Amino acid sequence: MPSKDIYILGIETSCDETCASVVANGREMLSNIVYSQIPLHEIYGGVVPEIAGRAHTEKIDIVVEEALNKSGVPLEKIDAIAVTQGPGLVGALLVGVSYAKGLAYATNKPLIAVNHIEAHICANYITNPKLYPPFLCLVVSGGHSHIIYIDENNNYSLIGCTHDDAAGEAFDKAARVLGLGYPGGPKLDKIARQGDDSALKLPTPKTQGEYDFSFSGLKTAFINALHNMEQKGEKYEPADMAASFQKAVVDSLVDKTMLAAKKLKPDKLLLAGGVSANSLLRERMQKECDNLGIELNMPMLSLCGDNAAMIASCAYGMYVKKEYAPLTLNALPALRMF
Ligand code: KG4
Ligand code: ZN
Repeated sequence: MPSKDIYILGIETSCDETCASVVANGREMLSNIVYSQIPLHEIYGGVVPEIAGRAHTEKIDIVVEEALNKSGVPLEKIDAIAVTQGPGLVGALLVGVSYAKGLAYATNKPLIAVNHIEAHICANYITNPKLYPPFLCLVVSGGHSHIIYIDENNNYSLIGCTHDDAAGEAFDKAARVLGLGYPGGPKLDKIARQGDDSALKLPTPKTQGEYDFSFSGLKTAFINALHNMEQKGEKYEPADMAASFQKAVVDSLVDKTMLAAKKLKPDKLLLAGGVSANSLLRERMQKECDNLGIELNMPMLSLCGDNAAMIASCAYGMYVKKEYAPLTLNALPALRMF
C-alpha cells in the first residue's frame, strides 16, 4: 500500500456522458462531474454516435477542469490519469483516450487504461469504502448482463451472461415501443410504479446455461402483444405494460442471480451498471439477500450510470501494481472482460 494519499483523475467518455472525477485512494470521491448529453440525443430517440463524439470534444476540457477545481486537488498533485479504454462507441472513447494521453504526456504522469464494465463494479467501493472481495456481482448495463464471481485475490470468473440482448437494451426497447422516449430504462421504471404487473403475461426466458439470461424473446413477445392489442383496437394502459415487462426482466435477473448465490454461497452480493438503478431490482434483491443473510451492496444512485469516479476507483488497484498504459494506447470499442 502506498504510504501517502493517492489521487487519481478519472475520465470517462464511452457513450453519452462526458465525465471526470478525482478519487483519493480508490475509495473517497472528491469530485464527480457528469455532463449528460441527453438533451442532444433525445429528439433522435437514441444516442447518435457522431453527435456524442463531437459533444465530448466540446466539453471534455471544462469537465476535467471542473473536476479538479471541485476536488481541491491541483493537477500537480494528481498521481495518475485513468481513462475508459472500452467497451463503448469508438468515436466517443477516442475523445477521452486522446485527452488522457495528452494530459499524461504533458504532465509526465502515469496513464491507466480502464475497462468500463469492471469500473461499474468499482462504483460499489466508493459507496461502501469498507467493501473487499470475495463477492458475487450482477453487472447489468446497456450492453452487458453478467453474473461474475470475484475472489479474494480480485480474480474474476464469469458465472453467467446473456445469450442475446442486455437487460438495459431490453428496457430501452420496451420503453421505445411504449413511446416513452430516450433514455428508456429510467422512464419505464418511473411509470411502472403506477402499473399493474399482472396485466400482461410474458414468457419466462429459457437458456441452456443455468445462470444465463435471454431477453430477446421476452422483448419480441412484448412487442407482439402490444401490436396485437393495437390491431384489435384494444386499449392498454402503458403503466401496466411497463410494470409487466419490468417484472419479467427483474424476475429473470433476480432468479438467476439468487440461483448462483445459493450455489456459491457468497457473504456479499453486488449490483452494478446502469440497470442497478432500477427500483424494483433494488427492492427485490434486498429482500432476497435479507432472507439468505447475504450483505447486499448497490452503488448509490448517482454512481449506477456512467461516471468517472468508478474509473478512478478501478484504476487505483492498477496504480498500486504499476499497471500503466503506454502513450500508444488506443480505444477498444469491443473490449471484453472475459
Ligand atoms: O451502465 P450504463 O449507464 O451505460 C452502459 O454502460 O451501458 O447503463 C445504461 C442502461 C440503459 O439501457 C438504461 O436504460 C438503463 O441502464 N437504466 C435503467 C434504469 N436506469 C438506467 N434501466 C431500468 N431502470 C432504471 N431505473
Ligand atoms: Zn456504463
